[in-house]
Amino acid sequence: MTGEQPTAPYLDAVVAYGFRGPGRFHVPGHKGGPGADPGLRHALGDNALALDVPQDIRGIDTGVEHPPFQRAEELAAEAYGAQRTWFLTNGATQGNHALALALAPLGATVVAQRNAHASLVDGLVLSGGRPHFVAPAYDEELGMAHGVTPEALAEALAQAAAGGGRVHAAFVVSPTYYGMVADVPALAEVAHAAGVPLVVDQAWGPHFGFHPDLPESALRQGADAVLTSTHKIVGSLTQSAMLHVGARGEPARIDVDRVARAMRLVRSTSPSSLLMASLDAARRQLAVHGEALLHETLAASRRLREKLATVPGLAVIGAEQVGRPGVAGWDPLRVVLDVRGTGRTGYEVADALRRSYDAHVELATQATVVLVLGMGQPEEDLVRLGGDIDEIVKRISVPGRRDAISRPPAALRYEVAVPPREAFLGEAERVPVDDAVGCISCESIAGYPPGIPALLPGERITAEVVAYLRGLRAAGARLHGASDPEFRSVTVLAG
Ligand SMILES: Cc1ncc(COP(=O)(O)O)c(C=O)c1O
Repeated sequence: MTGEQPTAPYLDAVVAYGFRGPGRFHVPGHKGGPGADPGLRHALGDNALALDVPQDIRGIDTGVEHPPFQRAEELAAEAYGAQRTWFLTNGATQGNHALALALAPLGATVVAQRNAHASLVDGLVLSGGRPHFVAPAYDEELGMAHGVTPEALAEALAQAAAGGGRVHAAFVVSPTYYGMVADVPALAEVAHAAGVPLVVDQAWGPHFGFHPDLPESALRQGADAVLTSTHKIVGSLTQSAMLHVGARGEPARIDVDRVARAMRLVRSTSPSSLLMASLDAARRQLAVHGEALLHETLAASRRLREKLATVPGLAVIGAEQVGRPGVAGWDPLRVVLDVRGTGRTGYEVADALRRSYDAHVELATQATVVLVLGMGQPEEDLVRLGGDIDEIVKRISVPGRRDAISRPPAALRYEVAVPPREAFLGEAERVPVDDAVGCISCESIAGYPPGIPALLPGERITAEVVAYLRGLRAAGARLHGASDPEFRSVTVLAG
């Protein structure tokens, strides 16, 4: 954490160029506004278009010693305690792709959390790495996946090593979509004891470490690479994120040059100056005002929780989870409601909230509704939301009704028949799901709950998996990743 970062060099350099009236005989074709559609100019404003500048402008990212863009990434690295930070203009997704290419090259085995974000599996499709999956802890009652336990990671690393060959890295997620934080120090110890770097996908925790009442950043807890999806909680523009590699003062377990090479493969030659300037600005705001803004948001979040705890049928999930398997901490910027006591599903509560109050939640599952707060969340919005939820729940509750949570069959087994790359790039055909049993899946499909993929590219499709996914769909769950959202057909390896 640092309060000594009052500048935003890249933002300032882009602003200086954008507004001094330069002759724009370069891309983009809108020329800072005049060439853009009037509707777009009206929507975005001419300022945004003036600041939309390309790479390689002297004084911004080239032509001077220590250019502002380089300084901006260095300031971000300092703020997050990293040896090296990259700005990402294609989200944390881009970071997972780069890390997979750097750490899981062709044929290399890596241990990966089964419910890692889809972009990690996609990264393995690009790189050709072989995943050995480790299951997260799972709360069956709430249908909620937590973090990976150190014991599970140790076992998975041992099994993967027993399969022959070296294990190249371990990829885990913390916090979860529900804001639950894994025991990162213990996971790092386990990974390092096995001689493996630990990558923590902290996409949902770009604010961690910037307030004493928040969880510490994984990089300061022993992780060797950390992804932060800055746009999710901190104030940068959608699609902007950061990749941090190596903790300052710690041994370098990841080759930074290898990551730099992989980054070149997954980045555009025309990254958006608006996205990158928003990252520079968000880092400054986090470093300078983060603690104060978070302090106010934490207080507002506490008041919202207190209000919601008085609503009959609702339970607010958070601190009481700490100490359960896979949960070492939690993020108060995530408000997770257990709605089972209302006799309604999370989908129904979220739908009613949307219809009546135009209020939109981050995630609804059978048992829960998840709200995401931002770093500087206006308190009045939360006061109003508390009242809206109170009214909705009182109006639509069905006392006495309690649907069972659909849960994955205990014996759901995954057989990795071929690596994800082979399945994804192989010749594929679409078949009715009834004919797919025994075939090798080319797609990744997960439902909420549990948010754990039931199928990944390269895995053999079993009758159990088909029945399970059908059941989820029938219950109204969205099947993430399914090419046919109704799950009537599925893409499999031909032959
Ligand atoms: C755990 C996790 N990692 C990575 C990502 C990808 O982030 P982005 O949307 O910034 O590409 C997400 C997106 O929700 C995520 O939940």
